[in-house]
Amino acid sequence: MKEKLIQQFQELYKGEGEIRSYFAPGRVNLIGEHTDYNGGHVFPCALTLGTYGIVRSRSDRKLRFYSANFERLGVIETSLDELVPDPKANWTNYPKGVMWAFEKRGYKLNHGLDILIYGNIPNGSGLSSSASLEVLTGVILKDTYGFDVSMVDIALIGQDSENNFNGCNCGIMDQFASAMGKKDHAIFLDTNTLHYEYAPVVLEDAKIVITNSKVKHSLVDSAYNDRRNECETALKELKAAVKIESLGELTEEEYEAHKDAIKDAVRQKRAKHAVYENQRTIRAVEALKNQDVELFGKLMNASHESLRYDYEVSCEEIDILVDLAQAMPGVLGSRITGGGFGGCTVSIVKNDAVDTFISEIGKTYQEKVGHEAEFYVVDIGSGAGII
Ligand code: GLA
Repeated sequence: MKEKLIQQFQELYKGEGEIRSYFAPGRVNLIGEHTDYNGGHVFPCALTLGTYGIVRSRSDRKLRFYSANFERLGVIETSLDELVPDPKANWTNYPKGVMWAFEKRGYKLNHGLDILIYGNIPNGSGLSSSASLEVLTGVILKDTYGFDVSMVDIALIGQDSENNFNGCNCGIMDQFASAMGKKDHAIFLDTNTLHYEYAPVVLEDAKIVITNSKVKHSLVDSAYNDRRNECETALKELKAAVKIESLGELTEEEYEAHKDAIKDAVRQKRAKHAVYENQRTIRAVEALKNQDVELFGKLMNASHESLRYDYEVSCEEIDILVDLAQAMPGVLGSRITGGGFGGCTVSIVKNDAVDTFISEIGKTYQEKVGHEAEFYVVDIGSGAGII
């Protein structure tokens, strides 16, 4: 892949000079959904799918971007003096946002770059193609300009750029997973403190299977921000009754004891999800450590139930996939993964059931929804870096 992209880079940009190559993965979250902006825990892992970057320094301040995924857009040219969001700049707003966020922190980008990007994460699938592009840019800048930044900083800078340059109020999970991923491990991250621990994902006789519904409902960003606001309001209401700084600090019992402080039934459901999902995540990681994959799977099912009815971020197509999966022998657990309203499910499937899972669910989904689903049997990859 790298060689092919370098060749494409040379044909496109011509010229001389050292060319360097980078990769940042996408992620799948195993459990702990919509907890990362509520001071809770998440449990994602990096994929081997992700975004590649081929880069060469320039002597002027120009930036030239080209994506092999959007060939029709051609080379998009801008400069280090124009780091402002621009709808016409299309996907380049992501790398530009990261450059902006570095400069905001006092890092000086003292020359321009020629960049070629290629990503193999299916677009709009909820597997964090944008976070991987942000983290990729962070790694490129660190290496090219010799910046002294940690990988955790790169994740935070990526999140800052997404929140304040690209207008999506996301949490830290996606960028953290892309920057900090570890082969064959998931990251148990406390988003309140950024304390994290790697947990080996040893499933013995089972595999992680991602199913892409290939739908993405348009309300994603606005509904995401709505959920955040609802949780913030619920937290404010709860603070009148109990001394907390985030929903992640509550146990289920504490939530039940104080929930009446939340003056609206919808907000109560949102907060309930945040609290219960966080506790479920802690329990799920414990189960995995004890090699109790069955319990891990049950907690995944419960997570979906809560995301479907209390947090209301699922959709018909995803529920079809999850219902089919959960009813199938050999499936230990299945749930929506990522921000919601389409995208993917993640399931734990016994090795000998994987083929039937793909063929049966594939067939029924096509009949019910009218288009195909896609399936990926997951390999857990490493975090971003030079390749
Ligand atoms: C999106 C956001 C993450 C997280 C998930 C939901 O992927 O980018 O920060 O909130 O949704 O768990």
